[in-house]
Amino acid sequence: MRIAVLPGDGIGPEVTSHAMAVLQTVSDVCGYDFRFDSYRIGGAAIEQDGTPLPERTLSACMESDAVLLGAVGARKYDHCTGQMRPEAGLLALRQALGGYANLRPVKAYEVIADCSPLREDVVRGVDILIVRELLGGLYFGQPRGIETDCLSAFNTMRYEVYEIERVARVAFEEARKRNKHVTSVDKANVLETSQLWRRTVSEIGKQYPDVQLDHAYVDSFAMQLVTTPTRYDVVLTENLFGDILSDEAAVICGSLGMLASASIGGRVALYEPVHGSAPDIAGRGMANPLGAIQTAAMLLQYSAGMFEEAEQIMESVQRTLARGLVTPDLAGRRKRASFSTDEVGKSVVETVADLLQRHVAYHAV
Ligand code: NAD
Ligand code: IPM
Ligand code: MN
Repeated sequence: MRIAVLPGDGIGPEVTSHAMAVLQTVSDVCGYDFRFDSYRIGGAAIEQDGTPLPERTLSACMESDAVLLGAVGARKYDHCTGQMRPEAGLLALRQALGGYANLRPVKAYEVIADCSPLREDVVRGVDILIVRELLGGLYFGQPRGIETDCLSAFNTMRYEVYEIERVARVAFEEARKRNKHVTSVDKANVLETSQLWRRTVSEIGKQYPDVQLDHAYVDSFAMQLVTTPTRYDVVLTENLFGDILSDEAAVICGSLGMLASASIGGRVALYEPVHGSAPDIAGRGMANPLGAIQTAAMLLQYSAGMFEEAEQIMESVQRTLARGLVTPDLAGRRKRASFSTDEVGKSVVETVADLLQRHVAYHAV
């Protein structure tokens, strides 16, 4: 399997190296042949190549079996608009790869339930899958721009029926593998795009009579997500709502650094943690690598069908947390001891190696 690795900016390279190390361990222990090739994207690419998505990066990604990305974004480019922003490189990559369904699991691990600012009884048992539409809506709608007088700016929220149908199908299919419940989140009391969204999702829902479908308005859902999160299973929503709600959902897990994602349905799947380049902590060895590591597990699951190995990675993450090996983002609230990115990453790698070796030995007998 050829994996194109795009570490990107800020903490991107710090966390991606551990996700790679975990995949390399799986490859070594199980006798697979994973090949990693790294390419520039985002601010790092603007710096070296004069563009956030160099042609060389794009073509390597298109020819790979999966893309593993860290994060993009740097303060230096905050004042820039249009294509000279690191984020523009990521959006162009997402569009080219074609993954329209962005899966963002939100799981409250028992062993760190006390790390959330929410009450333990509120977060205990939460297991949500956010399915965020990734290639439509305000992010890509035309026309968009800033008037030349700089006194007004505009974006277009637009959805085609086929864009809603295809992501809805992914949500229902995922729900079938889980608790058979989809909550579709929109703003149908105000927006025409949401009215079309609701109607289309309901139509697709008829093809899945075994899956319960509910609709919710995004404003009240944002509240319920942190008051009664155990009520949800699969949450289906459009691009911008999904972006915002997934960061909000990170509160349930205790840190944004815990969330992973997979963008599927296109030519090549793209795997990236939900968090950004975190310039406030970059270069200090304190970034939580577990979001990136769980992203590696999603890569095995969705691009290689290696469910057993993905499961072992998740188990290793849990054991690492259970040993109290957490970065400062999780340690702070309960005044636990905190560990570095490398210490946490190495613990996962060692645990994965151990679990897989036992597994391989068991099956050899
Ligand atoms: P951010 O996700 O980078 O950080 C938000 C907060 O969460 C910060 O306090 C940060 O320290 C913390 N955090 C994030 N990841 C963490 C981790 N792994 N471990 C510990 N703490 C972590 O969001 P931001 O600060 O709003 O954005 C910074 C830059 O990242 C911006 O340029 C933004 O556009 C970009 N961004 C990129 C992506 C991506 O590449 N997929 C995603 C989100 C934001
Ligand atoms: C995310 C990020 C991106 C998004 C940015 C960096 C373009 O916030 O992946 O959640 O808005 O999709
Ligand atoms: Mn985001």
